[in-house]
Amino acid sequence: QEDSFKKVISHAKEYGYVFQSSEIYDGLSAVYDYAQNGVELKKNIREYWWQAMVQLNDNIVGIDAAIFMHPTTWKASGHVDAFNDPLIDNKDSKKRYRADVLVEDYREKINDKILKDINKAKKRFGDAFDEQQFRETNPNVLRRQKEIDEISARLAEVQEKGDLEAFKQLILDLGIVCPVSGSKNWTDVKQFNLMFGTKLGASADSAMDLYLRPETAQGIFVNFLNVQKTGRMKIPFGIAQTGKAFRNEIVARQFIFRMREFEQMEMQYFIKPGTQQEWYENWKEKRLRWHLSLGMGEENYRFHDHDKLAHYADAAADIEFKFPFGFKELEGIHSRTDFDLGQHEEYSGKKLQYFDPEENKSYVPYVLETSIGLDRMFLAVFSNSLKEEELENGTTRTVLKIPAVLAPTKAAVLPLLKRDGLPEVAHKIFDDLKWDFNVIYDEKDAVGRRYRRQDAAGTPFCITVDHQTLEDETVTIRHRDSMEQQRVKIAEVKAIISKEVDM
Ligand code: GAP
Repeated sequence: QEDSFKKVISHAKEYGYVFQSSEIYDGLSAVYDYAQNGVELKKNIREYWWQAMVQLNDNIVGIDAAIFMHPTTWKASGHVDAFNDPLIDNKDSKKRYRADVLVEDYREKINDKILKDINKAKKRFGDAFDEQQFRETNPNVLRRQKEIDEISARLAEVQEKGDLEAFKQLILDLGIVCPVSGSKNWTDVKQFNLMFGTKLGASADSAMDLYLRPETAQGIFVNFLNVQKTGRMKIPFGIAQTGKAFRNEIVARQFIFRMREFEQMEMQYFIKPGTQQEWYENWKEKRLRWHLSLGMGEENYRFHDHDKLAHYADAAADIEFKFPFGFKELEGIHSRTDFDLGQHEEYSGKKLQYFDPEENKSYVPYVLETSIGLDRMFLAVFSNSLKEEELENGTTRTVLKIPAVLAPTKAAVLPLLKRDGLPEVAHKIFDDLKWDFNVIYDEKDAVGRRYRRQDAAGTPFCITVDHQTLEDETVTIRHRDSMEQQRVKIAEVKAIISKEVDM
């Protein structure tokens, strides 16, 4: 697992997807830059989301709110008082740990044991094996599951009550050792707010304390009535937004999975109170379908329904994805009730109500939220696409099977040789295609090596110009995933690529 994840990180650097921020100064922890290919992949994921959410839904519109917001926003939203994480330092390693991450790691270890039990039983019983029955009745699995439930419940209590001593006791009871030094020598526990603070204004005494937004959602809530009125929106309707969010994550790790500066793609759906259960189920299903449409394997997704809910929610579930380090949250679907709009009414003193012409009355709408991290989606796509394949001739190839709609470069145009007029024809094809797709021209090295380079960079098509092209105006199209080559007329190339890459 660890090795395959290391490969993901080094491949992302080697092929121009993700660089460590400020690398020449030894980097900045949990901050990353998107490189020439990464920026294209990220843009394509954002567009794929925007199309599904805004373009294809006539009752969902977009906005782009500022990162800076009036500081009272964060009092109202609960982030000033409740966006805290208990943390603890290990005295020997001088490393800092976050309660939920430590407990999550522990939970995962137990889950791994359950999976091992299941695999063993699968081998033993073959086709007759029923996993659900095994999970529900095998005493080992039940015991381990009980342990997970107990830990989860204790963690929830620690977080809810901010009971720091209880957290320390939990760590000691679990015998969690510092992963680095192996010691159990912990300090006292502290509460730590995850918002980054900054100042607006020049002089020290008149400057206003601001926060960098920890979620994009609040920009939507405070604009709810403006959008509803100017867009003449009728409930149910949605507002979507993509943009940067900032969290001073205590334990930043796992590459771009948990960053300090990241991008969210969020949608708040404003609904009639009482209809939240229906919309919750509806959006859970719709969002899962969106993920599955990319063809990255149904078995790599699962729902995790929360039993313990955030202060603003009456139901919540994660769509989890199988990352190289296990199943982890990719997207959240939250039924947020009227909590946010209600709080903003209270703190601003302004009414945030919708007049429902059908009911002939005004009310504060309920909100159903879908929230996905763009960087996390990037990691899901990138890590799932990276494959080492054994070929028939005994060699291996590294290939990045990014879904064609999301691939940064759609095609590479390659003259077989750098002479005989082949580059000129290849340039002409390149010039024709560049108006429709991101394409590149490459004439360096033997063609086999160029194919491998494009495989590893994730380019779904290679178009090769050879001597036959000069005679009959045909080229070969090589398909990245199957490595099959097809002889086609130059005039057909655009349509063949379009079919695969158009959103
Ligand atoms: N408005 C609701 C909200 O922000 P969240 O579960 O805290 O909910 C939503 O975050 C999504 O944002 C997560 O599912 C995850 O994909 C992404 N996300 C959260 N923290 C992140 C971080 N530190 N780095 C990268 N992505 C993050």
